Amino acid sequence: MNILGIETSCDETSAAVVVDGRAILSHVISSSIQDQAAFGGVVPEIAARRQLECIVPVIRQSLNEADLAWEKIDAIAVTRGPGLLTSLLVGTTASRILASVFQKPLIGVHHTLGHLSSPWLECSDAIRFPLLTLSVSGGHTDLWLRESHTRNTLLGRTLDDAAGEAFDKGATLFHLPYPGGPALSKMAAGGNPSCISFTQPLQGVKTCDFSFSGLKTALKYALRDRGGVQVLSSAERCDIAASFEDAICKHLLSRLKCALENQRDIHEVHVVGGVSANSRLRTMLESTMRSQEITLRLPKEMSYCTDNAAMIAAAGYFLHLERGPDAAHPFETRASISLEG
Ligand code: KG4
Ligand code: ZN
Repeated sequence: MNILGIETSCDETSAAVVVDGRAILSHVISSSIQDQAAFGGVVPEIAARRQLECIVPVIRQSLNEADLAWEKIDAIAVTRGPGLLTSLLVGTTASRILASVFQKPLIGVHHTLGHLSSPWLECSDAIRFPLLTLSVSGGHTDLWLRESHTRNTLLGRTLDDAAGEAFDKGATLFHLPYPGGPALSKMAAGGNPSCISFTQPLQGVKTCDFSFSGLKTALKYALRDRGGVQVLSSAERCDIAASFEDAICKHLLSRLKCALENQRDIHEVHVVGGVSANSRLRTMLESTMRSQEITLRLPKEMSYCTDNAAMIAAAGYFLHLERGPDAAHPFETRASISLEG
């Protein structure tokens, strides 16, 4: 089944054609992130204008690269939310028009379900449910028990900031450019993670919830107590950034271990979303999962970690597979999954 995926929830305009939820025929992403950099974050007005400019060329390019005529597209899957309303409207309106003109089923996909589906992209292995998925991005940090594509239970979520937000806010304290996660991670790569021992959040709390705002405040005070970031040497900055990054990763790992202790028969752990691109997190996850004999899956390419349409096409396919024709109701609320936006 060939599905055209469309994703416009924030500052990326993306379209992709994916076969049976796994094989990517084309994948086009246009990002307005550079336009937002001067403002230190996403400006919804700018993001929506760029969505409008890009949506038609991006969809056209995606179909051209897939080398498929419209007759060969079996359905359109589009992000229905959550996200920036004005950005979402561009993708949902475009896909509604295309579905109506070309008489295609239209599948509305929750953005998070898209991220949860990203490990299937270009993966030829049989993926075994039940599994745990840690979804870490700029907007959310969630831990899901997944029994099928449509049976998902939220085991824990952040009580304040998301993990990506913690990276972004931490990067701002170092005066690094937006988006801060990759920049902070790059700076941390050469540093000593044991330089500062940041107190782990929610210690002794036996839930799978997360909290990052305390770490961000601790970083602020650590920089202030050393006279401010401007007086620090490059090596000192790297050390502090590495310690901060290490504390975020350890917190993510500790909640994941807690969930594994409480769940039986979990053979796989998936980690998705923008923060899954972080190399320290990847290294820590690999050694922990190896020691527990659990299969770790991350999106195969960095571009599948951040927002993209291929994951939306994959999620649309699996919704169709498990729910049949019901999946093709774009904005229905009768979801058998708890992924309402
Ligand atoms: O999933 P995503 O592209 O968009 C949302 O739905 O939020 O995630 C973006 C987030 C940003 O906060 C960004 O700073 C973070 O992912 N991020 C990283 C890295 N790459 C992206 N954080 C840490 N290390 C990275 N390498
Ligand atoms: Zn996302």
